[in-house]
Amino acid sequence: MAQEYSARMRVRMAAALLAAMTTAACGGGGGGGGGSSPPPPPPPPPPPPPALPDPATAPALKTVYASDFLVGAAVSAAQVSSATDAPVLQKHFNSITAEYEMKAETIGVSAGVYNFVPGDALRTYAQANATQLRGHALLWHQTSPSWFFAGGNATTIRNRLETYIHDVVSHYAGDVYAWDVVNEVASDTTGVTYRNSEWLQRLGPDYIEWAFRAARAADPAAKLFYNDYNTELTGKRANVMAIVQDLLTKGVPIDGVGHQFHLPYNGSVDACEDAIEAVEALGAGLINHVTELDVSVYSDPGSCFASGTGCQADYGATLPIAIQRTQATFYRQLFAMFANHPSINSVTTWGIHDGQSWLNAYPTTRTNYPLLFDRGRLPKAAFWAVADSGFVIP
Ligand code: XIL
Repeated sequence: MAQEYSARMRVRMAAALLAAMTTAACGGGGGGGGGSSPPPPPPPPPPPPPALPDPATAPALKTVYASDFLVGAAVSAAQVSSATDAPVLQKHFNSITAEYEMKAETIGVSAGVYNFVPGDALRTYAQANATQLRGHALLWHQTSPSWFFAGGNATTIRNRLETYIHDVVSHYAGDVYAWDVVNEVASDTTGVTYRNSEWLQRLGPDYIEWAFRAARAADPAAKLFYNDYNTELTGKRANVMAIVQDLLTKGVPIDGVGHQFHLPYNGSVDACEDAIEAVEALGAGLINHVTELDVSVYSDPGSCFASGTGCQADYGATLPIAIQRTQATFYRQLFAMFANHPSINSVTTWGIHDGQSWLNAYPTTRTNYPLLFDRGRLPKAAFWAVADSGFVIP
């Protein structure tokens, strides 16, 4: 704060000095007998961004929230051995999720042929760094290779799915402590429960149940999750909850619900809390995980997501201070809410630092600033807001 005020005061003093010089110059010119007036002075420069605390004094996030939940980040295998990213990961995070390298498009090369190389690198990092490994995701319509469906009838396709899940979960048994078994299988349309994917078309909704049962059989100790986005929106949440309730009713092994929480900077903490409480209200003892948290600095209309039109203009290299402030405040309120719910035992941000975020390319290509660390891997105001309750958001 002392630095902030002195910076502001310096700017004010400079402005006052310029004003005084202008007055003096005009007075002098008036007495000089009709010469042309001097050009107006340039406006004072904008104030520098408020200073943040020394990064060296940043507390470790995983320590701050040690009694509340694991603090995770989505990473690639390259990041866990990167000289720039690994130190941040090691200091602040005690859980990792593969951002894309443990999805079927990477692991499932073809039926019965697997690429475990990047996932194994994440496992090695996790074991060496007292870090938990979340598995993401066994079944996702966007990353299901075509060999699952090619030339098969329903029995063949079911068999391929169950074999894939069995083999992958067995490979990581004991090391992946929680799996997103199915990802985004609910519909976005109010009143339509299931996403109209190729899985649904070929197998009907029972494929969800089969996926969970196959995962449980392969590793009885792994926690099994249903994972989805927009659980903070009532219509989508109703579809998700209908699926989860159906699984519970049928006695399907499910341990928790993952809330992706890809949020806009002006989002609602209460809406997110409603999503957490909806799972608690089932009374089935399900765990809540926040699985893909990021807070976009844009707040786009539906058309931006649907067709790439109407997206907010790119802020480029300079993010307005008011947006940073709102984002930091929102992050602080979210983490306070998370810590208030014992049902939440893991909170993962979808990346370590802004430069890595998928939101620089989705829903349109644009500079985004959605995470807790900046492109230089330094803690942002949002970091300080969640890591230090005494921090005054500038
Ligand atoms: C995204 C990754 O961030 C991208 O790198 C990848 O290309 C596509 O997937 N919901 C999910 C995540 O469950 O797996 C997605 O991750 C983001 C939306």
